[in-house]
Amino acid sequence: MRDRFYITTPIYYVNAEPHLGHAYSTVIADIENRFHRLLGDETFFLTGTDEHGDKILQTAKRQGIDPKTYVDRINSLFRDAWALLDIEPDRSIRTTDPDHIATVQRVLQEIYDKGDIVFKEYEGLYCFGCERFYTERELVDGKCPDHGIPPVRLKEKNYFFLMSRYQDWLVDHIKRHPSFITPEHYRNEVLSFLKEPLDDLCISRPSTRLTWGIPLPFDHRFVTYVWFDALINYLTGIGFPDGPNFSKFWPVAEHVIAKDILKPHCVYWPTMLRALGLEPYRHIHVHGYWQIQAQKMSKSLGNVIRPGDLVEAFGVDATRYCLVREMTFGLDARFSEESFRLRINADLANDLGNLVSRILTMVYKYLGGKVPVPGDLDGPERDLRKAVVRLVPHWREAMEAFEIHRALQGVWEVINMANKLIDASAPWVLARDPNKAGQLRDVLYSLLDALRIFSILIAPVMPTSARKMQEALGIDPEKGLNFEAARHWGLLVPGTKISKIPPMFPRVKV
Ligand code: MSP
Repeated sequence: MRDRFYITTPIYYVNAEPHLGHAYSTVIADIENRFHRLLGDETFFLTGTDEHGDKILQTAKRQGIDPKTYVDRINSLFRDAWALLDIEPDRSIRTTDPDHIATVQRVLQEIYDKGDIVFKEYEGLYCFGCERFYTERELVDGKCPDHGIPPVRLKEKNYFFLMSRYQDWLVDHIKRHPSFITPEHYRNEVLSFLKEPLDDLCISRPSTRLTWGIPLPFDHRFVTYVWFDALINYLTGIGFPDGPNFSKFWPVAEHVIAKDILKPHCVYWPTMLRALGLEPYRHIHVHGYWQIQAQKMSKSLGNVIRPGDLVEAFGVDATRYCLVREMTFGLDARFSEESFRLRINADLANDLGNLVSRILTMVYKYLGGKVPVPGDLDGPERDLRKAVVRLVPHWREAMEAFEIHRALQGVWEVINMANKLIDASAPWVLARDPNKAGQLRDVLYSLLDALRIFSILIAPVMPTSARKMQEALGIDPEKGLNFEAARHWGLLVPGTKISKIPPMFPRVKV
């Protein structure tokens, strides 16, 4: 049976246009999804938009339009951005989708019937920006850590999810599954948070105050509040409870998020699933923030970079490459256009782009544009072959661990070996000496086959460039772009016609 892989991104609020931060999570998920497709797995990739809540309603009102028109408009901006970035989700879910509304109501009813949702009066500190109550100890200098303004004291009756019932189970689950939350520092953060007793989670808002939400099935005077609505999208997206995709993909669910939503995803969500009698997701992968001058990139700070602008300036593959190469997954990174430009010139234009054109040009010049018949491949090219063969399992392991930057680093080390092999073996000298014809064929065959394998290893990150490289090598990408082909050295068929291609990555101005 084929392995399976289910990957999700956060569903993004439609109160802001897509920016680089959203793009990062979504590109990571797309790359991992493509990686698993390359392995031959059966995959499902879900992204989407979070469209209910006060904030959305307020924004729509300010613009003088009804909320549905407003959410449609922003939702299409997200879809357009993902298309520009070559992101291929299997479903783009919206919390306003009818099947999602039905699923949320079903889940609420089940948990309510079980006795894990209760009605009670609550007085607390409410941040209208976050649409949530804060405890004193969560505030920073008495202010909301996200909005920097003091929350308002509010007293009202609401429905609460008795999350604390599942606290011990959750601590135990996290301890028994070291890779449940990765990287490790986020796992530790959650465990240390769980040392304190959990409060009950408020899941409703009175419909007198908030109308743009999903009515509670057991009390229509209330609508459900943001997290209970949003998290359930991960179930709706694959057809909970009876759809065939649900039984297929839920057991292999993996989420990508940034650290801002660690607590909802690592505390609320697993306890909700437990209350529902479902297994928790398999892994959650938490990344840091893209920052601009040491501040988080966000609409409220007005310092956003639009993914479309980067694609326009650098092209889609280079943008995807820089996004994942310039940030170590799990840590914060400073965005600078300059470092993207330097990265493109160094890694893409120089290292990879030059390697491709040098090899293709030499094969044209010295071998009539055809893949040569290799000999015993026992000259200086032997080390390159060994390095490529060693690289492939390391690359796979790094990709599986969501360490895409590390996977790419490994590939680039071997790309540089290939460049050095050209300089050291000097095919232009070999070509002048008829006695060296065998050596010339061996060096160029090895370089061509290394290129073939590089094209597979870059494919999840730079799908268009990978296809171009395969086509240049006379391979049909439909047949050649798969992990099996990367695991075997020497699949290039002698005599195959190669084609010269224009520079894959033009240099950019620094
Ligand atoms: N709607 C909720 C998520 C519900 S998921 C069930 C939400 N939306 S959001 O629009 O604020 O998106 C937050 C997510 O966007 C982060 O977790 C991260 O994936 C991405 N990012 C937003 N800003 C970011 C940075 N500056 N840097 C990196 N990622 C960022 O929270």
